[in-house]
Amino acid sequence: MAIVELKNVAKNYAQGLVKGKGDKSSNAVDNFNLVTRDGEFVVLVGPSGCGKSTTMRMIAGLERNTEGEILIGGRDVSQVPPKERDIAMVFQSYALYPHMSVADNMGFSLKLKKRPAAEIKAKIEEAAQTLGIQSLLDRKPRELSGGQRQRVALGRAIVRDPQVFLMDEPLSNLDAKLRVDMRAEIVKLHKRLKVTTFYVTHDQVEAMTMGERIVVMKDGRIQQIDTPINLYEFPANRFVAGFIGNPSMNFLRARHAEGVVSGDGYRLTLDDSHRPVVTTRNVGDVWVGIRPEHLRLSDGAATNRVEGTVDVVETLGAVTVVQLSVGEHSVTAQLPGHQKVEIGDTLTLACDSDKLHLFDTDSELAIGREPAEQSSVAAKA
Ligand SMILES: Nc1ncnc2c1ncn2[C@@H]1O[C@H](COP(=O)(O)OP(=O)(O)OP(=O)(O)O)[C@@H](O)[C@H]1O
Ligand SMILES: [Mg+2]
Repeated sequence: MAIVELKNVAKNYAQGLVKGKGDKSSNAVDNFNLVTRDGEFVVLVGPSGCGKSTTMRMIAGLERNTEGEILIGGRDVSQVPPKERDIAMVFQSYALYPHMSVADNMGFSLKLKKRPAAEIKAKIEEAAQTLGIQSLLDRKPRELSGGQRQRVALGRAIVRDPQVFLMDEPLSNLDAKLRVDMRAEIVKLHKRLKVTTFYVTHDQVEAMTMGERIVVMKDGRIQQIDTPINLYEFPANRFVAGFIGNPSMNFLRARHAEGVVSGDGYRLTLDDSHRPVVTTRNVGDVWVGIRPEHLRLSDGAATNRVEGTVDVVETLGAVTVVQLSVGEHSVTAQLPGHQKVEIGDTLTLACDSDKLHLFDTDSELAIGREPAEQSSVAAKA
């Protein structure tokens, strides 16, 4: 277990390769700052190419950071080679050695370290028990299912008893059902072992359910670091707001005047939580964000109204997801599953004022609402 600190960490792949290349704008990761708690489970999310794997590889020592410092357990590891960083990695391509048994695969790193045979055996057995793969120890990887192979890859990491786990999309090769099972397994494992863990995923459900804190990245930069619930309730900018939540938040380009935001087909009243807009900007353009699950059918009398014509109806059973044309905007609403809605219907929807999000049209930063406990890092999107 260890605290991991990243201070102003940046990576520029061009630097050093091509003379004169490698200005800050081409940084794959830029200005990355994070201090974990001891034993924390930190999830990195963000679109493809945003720098998640690069960050992991820098922590592992597989890439050198071109700027900043990385500390593991208080020790600056800049000059420390990967195998001396006391880190275990589980990556998407977790290639097991095909000719070795499960037990040999799991014990291989300890064998390389010339640990005594009895210790290796004991560690393999303990890890196998934790992962429920005791009966598979003599098999070869080709005799295993995808999920079992995944467990072996985890086992290989566990036996090393590392200070830090780095997992880069370890479940992406598995089918949906197995992913859910393995997700729960990894959370349980973390609760037991309490090893500081960095976990990369594309899947925001995985991020929300696994992460104690989530780092949302875009274009190499941290957008927000926060707990899952704070990310959902208090996204720091429009990017985070659109990235966290499914279906995604709706954004309406609105005109604000005297505490009312409106446009073609909608009129919404702000409340005290949006005071900065109400007081500092009496009139002006603003992005209004509304989550689909916060829209409901209205009898028409509600003060907050969104009116539109239904274009698409998706009946999912538990919920019915509807897309409407509201003026020039397309708005998604998540309604109860039993709701009868047909294409072409005109619907009036309502939304509570305290569920409205506002974003500056220039900086795209959130305006107003802030969590009681401020742990957010906001960045211009
Ligand atoms: N070895 C490399 N040399 C040059 N550029 C690289 C190298 N590895 C990654 N990059 C670039 O750095 C940026 C970040 O890549 P990275 O692999 O960290 O993204 P990612 O967030 O892990 O994406 P994905 O979700 O697709 O795995 C990308 O623009 C990528 O093209
Ligand atoms: Mg990656």
